[in-house]
Amino acid sequence: MRHDKDFNKSTNASFTDVLGARLSRRGVLRVGMGTAGAAVLGSLPLVGCGSGGDEPAPDVPLTLGFPAVAKNRADAVTVPAGYTATVIYALGDPLTSATADFKNDGTDTGFEQRAGDHHDGMQYFGLDAAGTARDMSGSERGLLAVNHEGITSQFLHVGGATRNPRPAAEADKEILAHGVSVVEVRKVNGKFAVQKESPYNRRITPMTPMQLSGPVRGHALVKTKFSASGNDCRGTIGNCGTGYTPWGTLLTGEENWSGFFKRGDDEAARGGPMGRDSVSLRRYGVTKNSASVHGWETAGATDLYARWDITQTGSSPDGTDDYRNEANTFGYLVEIDPYDKNAALRKRTALGRLAHESAAFGKPTAGKPLAAYMGDDSRGEYIYKFVSAASWDTNDASPADRIATGDKYLDSGKLHVAKFNADGTGQWIELSIANSAVTTHPDYGFTNQGDVLVNARLAADAAGATKMDRPEWCAVHPVTGEVYYTLTHNADRKVDLSGSPQYVGVDAANPRAYTDAPTAASTPGNINGHIIRLKETASESAATAFTWDVYLFGAQADADRAKVNLSALTADQDFSSPDGLWFSPTTGLCFIQTDDGAYTDATNCMMLIGKPGAVGDGTTPTLSYTREDGSTLAVPTRMGAKPTADTLRRFLVGPKDCEITGISETPDGKTIFVNIQHPGETISKADLATPSRYLSHWPGNAGYGPGGATARPRSATIVITRNDGGLIGA
Ligand code: FEO
Ligand code: CA
Ligand code: CA
Ligand code: CA
Repeated sequence: MRHDKDFNKSTNASFTDVLGARLSRRGVLRVGMGTAGAAVLGSLPLVGCGSGGDEPAPDVPLTLGFPAVAKNRADAVTVPAGYTATVIYALGDPLTSATADFKNDGTDTGFEQRAGDHHDGMQYFGLDAAGTARDMSGSERGLLAVNHEGITSQFLHVGGATRNPRPAAEADKEILAHGVSVVEVRKVNGKFAVQKESPYNRRITPMTPMQLSGPVRGHALVKTKFSASGNDCRGTIGNCGTGYTPWGTLLTGEENWSGFFKRGDDEAARGGPMGRDSVSLRRYGVTKNSASVHGWETAGATDLYARWDITQTGSSPDGTDDYRNEANTFGYLVEIDPYDKNAALRKRTALGRLAHESAAFGKPTAGKPLAAYMGDDSRGEYIYKFVSAASWDTNDASPADRIATGDKYLDSGKLHVAKFNADGTGQWIELSIANSAVTTHPDYGFTNQGDVLVNARLAADAAGATKMDRPEWCAVHPVTGEVYYTLTHNADRKVDLSGSPQYVGVDAANPRAYTDAPTAASTPGNINGHIIRLKETASESAATAFTWDVYLFGAQADADRAKVNLSALTADQDFSSPDGLWFSPTTGLCFIQTDDGAYTDATNCMMLIGKPGAVGDGTTPTLSYTREDGSTLAVPTRMGAKPTADTLRRFLVGPKDCEITGISETPDGKTIFVNIQHPGETISKADLATPSRYLSHWPGNAGYGPGGATARPRSATIVITRNDGGLIGA
């Protein structure tokens, strides 16, 4: 889902104002990094999380071994010669043998037993040969847990979406097309296929009962008509990035939840515009008189629909007679045990309430706390780190009770937010009720730590965090342990503030603001995004300081190399709007996926594979800008070594009007799963009857499912293998 919002009205300064002035399953890997300037690291002990150990360890990262894929606008998935991509799991596919095949004409129902829409983050969980238990090295049979972030509502109904009021049947279908699915995949005759009869298959939807866990459980801010105790909540929405815990469960990030809610003008009831609720809701994008994206609250009077209207209408002092607090039950990372349908589903509130993308764990070290890295995706939002109170016990890599292990590591700890300095250093600032920098927020008085976590954005504002260019996914390099974040783009990044509070000045960590030409982007700013990376002091998970540089600046290859294409990307490497980000624990290669609207005049969204070096392996260029008053603004930044043809190549281009997101691999590194989200999502109700006006017909046009060359497009999971059976990308 493309979304580009700005709810951060804090005045946190940019530096220029201030300056103005899985780790290898094989145990031990030998490391030989070929990138010029990068240190050649010696043997590093890595925590093994599998039963392997008898295979020879490869040098990691491996060398790129595929021909670059050319940019293109074909309505197809393009992969390098020597590779095969196959669709295996698309919108509406049945999860049981008793569910009818998907007709893809808007008549299909029963989405509680079908694949949801808008496939996003995804993780593979290995099974043993019999399919009865978790096997961390299981590469023939496993479970895919797939996020379904949103919907293309026109294509879900026969004649498109009816609004408003929404017919209940339409709302029901749309609600159930969101959430998460777990589906078994298994190699049959050497090829992965979905197992419709698998007892593991299930849907988790916006209706599925869940528990709030951690400091916010039972808090006054989460009491609703559904749960007067504040212990329980219903369902998950806006599921974007994912995380894979060191004990083998899924974390799913609730990203774009604020738009699901309607809110009327209830400011007076909530204490006026500066009342606590009003300040909080505004900061998270649920301003008064907000319409909901889908209008589900108009579909009927029952509780099922009423919960999407958070207007304060009740007379209770604690909110247990209406849904005024319902939005406070979303915005978390939700932990799901894909192997156990009966395990509790827990929202891990200690990790803060944000527009969560992925969660990436630092390399677990026995006897040290775990670090989980996270981003908050809206314009000018922040980068976060959670540090567990419990220290890592390697026996917890394969525990008897995975959710209890989640309780141990994820329900208590410290949440931090990042501040980036122009000299290449940075700080993690703890968001604690005991931190006076947090509790001095001018507009919001925090009552306790639960309040700080529910309102993590407000706490981070007060702490002086650095506004970033929309943090999307983060990923941890399996060898160096350095942490990479995609910053997808930011139309609010400007050179001159001109007194306009919604504009954020350029700074060292977000140093570009420019105009795209020739253009598919309509507004200036940081149009193409960048990827920043951090190195913790002494590689400690609990470090409170780090160093950083920019791994790559997105750009079109022909853009100005002094101002825009700083990484000197060539036609085989150029990209815009990085979003999905992942390191293969097997090969150590970095996979970069795009969700772009700026370079789409030249190419559909894509996936690249890189072999990064390390923080500090590049240069310290200074960008020069001319302000509106004619004066010069110098912006020093930190940039990693420029990529070469051997360290960054385009691997895949998707069909029209899609984004590429979500990636996971089998533990042998020989199969990857990738999601194609919302091909052809730009469709009006008026055009629905005219298939020639659809922007995409994929994957029907590739022979998957009904419809052929005139099919309605569908989000889908593809499986990619090398024809010679080798490691992906190497
Ligand atoms: Fe769902 Fe921020 O991408
Ligand atoms: Ca995105
Ligand atoms: Ca362009
Ligand atoms: Ca994303």
